[in-house]
Amino acid sequence: MITIEKQYSLLSHNTFGFNVKTDTFIEYSSTDDLKQILCDKELLNGPYLHIGSGSNLLFTSDYKGTILHSKIQGIEVTENTNDYVLVKVGAGVEWDNFVAHCVSQGWAGVENLSLIPGEVGASAVQNIGAYGVEAKDLITQVDAVEIATAKECVFSNAECNYSYRQSIFKSELKNKFIVTYVTYKLSKNAAFNLEYGNIKAELEKYPEISLATIRQAIIAIRDSKLPDPKIEGNAGSFFMNPIIPRSQFMELQKQFPGIPFYDIDEDRVKVPAGWMIDKCGWKGKTLGHVGVHSKQALVLVNKGNATGDEIVNLSREIQASVKKLFNIEIHPEVNFIS
Ligand code: EPU
Repeated sequence: MITIEKQYSLLSHNTFGFNVKTDTFIEYSSTDDLKQILCDKELLNGPYLHIGSGSNLLFTSDYKGTILHSKIQGIEVTENTNDYVLVKVGAGVEWDNFVAHCVSQGWAGVENLSLIPGEVGASAVQNIGAYGVEAKDLITQVDAVEIATAKECVFSNAECNYSYRQSIFKSELKNKFIVTYVTYKLSKNAAFNLEYGNIKAELEKYPEISLATIRQAIIAIRDSKLPDPKIEGNAGSFFMNPIIPRSQFMELQKQFPGIPFYDIDEDRVKVPAGWMIDKCGWKGKTLGHVGVHSKQALVLVNKGNATGDEIVNLSREIQASVKKLFNIEIHPEVNFIS
């Protein structure tokens, strides 16, 4: 089914909670619907943008064009062995519903990614990650439709060129393909991933370690640090964690011995932007209608009635102070849309 709305409010389609409008809003529920839309040159004759659940978008004004949104549903087992299942999931399935389904079936892999806002299509574009797991570790195949030709294409994991919060769909093939299905490989012999941060400490509160309690622990950790977008508009981590040369990191470590870090490879180190923003004194600060979350400095929040431009201005001030104190440039993970 295809639905088309005019002068449509995007309030429920962006987690910052901005009441911006789009000229046209189109939703579709199958690959065939999508192909039909792409072939209709009158429907898509101006600028357009495909969104997920809007948990990584910052609208700075009304959108003068067409916004597309997938409602493709379905969680289908395509291969089932003693050790693993392959599960083909519709791009419009809410990410956390998929995680809950996997946990209830005893399929391991995505439990550390519990409660990440967004939809399955975006998980493959954005390579979402948290608590030591990234979507790229589990994706085997991405089905997509080419925008220019309306042809269906299949990408293997290797063809997606994944790295930290990056994929081919955000770089070389940006705005060239729309993801319709993502296939995940989940394990039946659960090898839990408990090394990151305070997962083990949180799990001590539970009687056993299982997929269900790991999910509960991750949800508890997220709830304690990240603001609920229904109460305070936000888009999760606003900036990506910068990856810097190890030589530069060693110099920084002399100046800031407690600096947290993650090894990328021999030559590179990832530094938490949240820690640097915190060190610059931003945590918990409010500037007019916007602010920096009091429990996680990587999250910028709409304190009520904010505009996208106010968030942009705050983010620029933060970037400048991180540059001044650490000589490191940090870049938004959130996409600015005008
Ligand atoms: N830290 C501070 N102060 C802060 C925030 C963090 O000192 O205000 C320190 C923490 O104590 C810790 C380090 O910085 O030593 C890292 O913090 P945390 O574990 O909270 O993770 P992060 O690097 O800030 C990343 C992801 C999150 C994900 C968490 C957990 C990015 C951009 N963000 O944040 O993803 O949930 O790890 O794995 O990679 C998201 O993308 O929206 C998101 C929330």
